[in-house]
Amino acid sequence: MLDGEREFASARQPSASFMTRSVCFRSSSRFGFIRSFLIPIHRKHHIHKPCPIRRAEGDARTFGYINYIAGLTAHLLGATRDHQFTFENNIDLEAFPIPRWHELDGGRYIGTDDLVITRDPDEGWVNAGTYRVMLQGKDAVALYISPGKHGGLHRRKYFDMGQPCPVVMSFGHHPLLFIAGCTDVPVKMSEFAYAGGVLNEPIKLVHGPHTGLPIPAYSEMAIEGELRPGDNLPEGPFGEWPGYYASDTRPEPVVRIKALYHRNNPILCGEPPLRPSANQGFHRSIQRSALIWNALEDAGVPDVKGVWLHPSGYRFFSIIKIKQRYPGHAKQAALIASQCRPGAYLGRYIVVVDDDIDIYNPDDVIWAMSTRSEPENIDVLRRCWSGPLDPAIPRERKGFNSRAIIDATKPYEWRDKFPAVNAVSDDFKAELDKKYAALLTEVTGRAH
Ligand SMILES: Cc1cc2nc3c(=O)[nH]c(=O)nc-3n(C[C@H](O)[C@H](O)[C@H](O)COP(=O)(O)O)c2cc1C
Repeated sequence: MLDGEREFASARQPSASFMTRSVCFRSSSRFGFIRSFLIPIHRKHHIHKPCPIRRAEGDARTFGYINYIAGLTAHLLGATRDHQFTFENNIDLEAFPIPRWHELDGGRYIGTDDLVITRDPDEGWVNAGTYRVMLQGKDAVALYISPGKHGGLHRRKYFDMGQPCPVVMSFGHHPLLFIAGCTDVPVKMSEFAYAGGVLNEPIKLVHGPHTGLPIPAYSEMAIEGELRPGDNLPEGPFGEWPGYYASDTRPEPVVRIKALYHRNNPILCGEPPLRPSANQGFHRSIQRSALIWNALEDAGVPDVKGVWLHPSGYRFFSIIKIKQRYPGHAKQAALIASQCRPGAYLGRYIVVVDDDIDIYNPDDVIWAMSTRSEPENIDVLRRCWSGPLDPAIPRERKGFNSRAIIDATKPYEWRDKFPAVNAVSDDFKAELDKKYAALLTEVTGRAH
């Protein structure tokens, strides 16, 4: 798909197939691999210097924009063998086999693994976020953006000026663009810059003639359109990542489509959330854990040894592992993790543990919480950033929720006197192995 040399079917009748990215994450045996592979990638490219992402932060054009290379645009827009274009009054999205992903979904969702591309009207920077997109007839889609997300902030600025908000939506693109689209890339940095930084080469984009917005050059399908103030239609319910249809049906802004571009028989991708733990949220846990770890280090918290958002709780349950260095270190880590950009939205429990705890093992975390924390010391933060997807908040009170800060580290002031752990130490294990090696070999028939 990337090299542009794919064979295209010649049929003119629109059809499409869907691939769900979730299948990549089903096998738990891959867990260790994914964790060991992706977290270093995120950390390498996001924190450590020198790294392309830092450079991209300084100059998004270095990696993010090929700046609409004229030749490429001409090539793609002229490539009618590969692409079909339809414009206002002639658009028929309903002709594509767009799925209803969950039994109780309120409609067919073309966008779950998509990019919604907007531009800040004041500052000019481009955002590409993954937000769900529901079909609303032949030439319209409804868009749900949670409060505080960048695409929603752009839209608000246009609407406050009484202007329509231009938007591009891309479907069926490079998997890395999806990963970037659902990552909390720092504000004012384009996801294309982020992805370009990770790939170490620019993302190829073409110029959307109706909106002036960039369109990923090798997307299977893209639309250009606009959101207009007050133009809303019912959106939802949808089976959301917490495992419920919590946000129900609400009026949400509609995108009126101006142009539709697609390859013949386009392949669209989907990532419909499922009740945890379907293992399908692994990539999200990995990404967000790394971003919170970055944010802690950027805020100057020393000796962070790990961050893990277990897929069952995901944003609702953050586990931070530290090597305690000073009084208040654990509380500092917890409060920053609870309020930094990647950790602040829809959090609930923040647990800090010592560096002898395996944060990827829920048994270990529950043991630490049960034996090192006291409920009377749990701090509660109120009126924090939540939203319609929070199933524990009644509909009339949605918007805010609370946070529990659970310090499950050994109390700093008497950590040296804390009861010793009665597990077999590595030294004692080695001594026993040595002492009984011959006997064990004789009994088990295997060399020890
Ligand atoms: C499959 C999938 C679907 C998502 N759907 C939505 C959505 O409908 N609305 C939303 O606000 N965020 C959604 N998200 C989360 C955002 O993509 C994520 O918060 C991202 O960082 C938002 O981009 P932004 O930081 O540029 O606003 C989804 C994430 C995934 C992985």
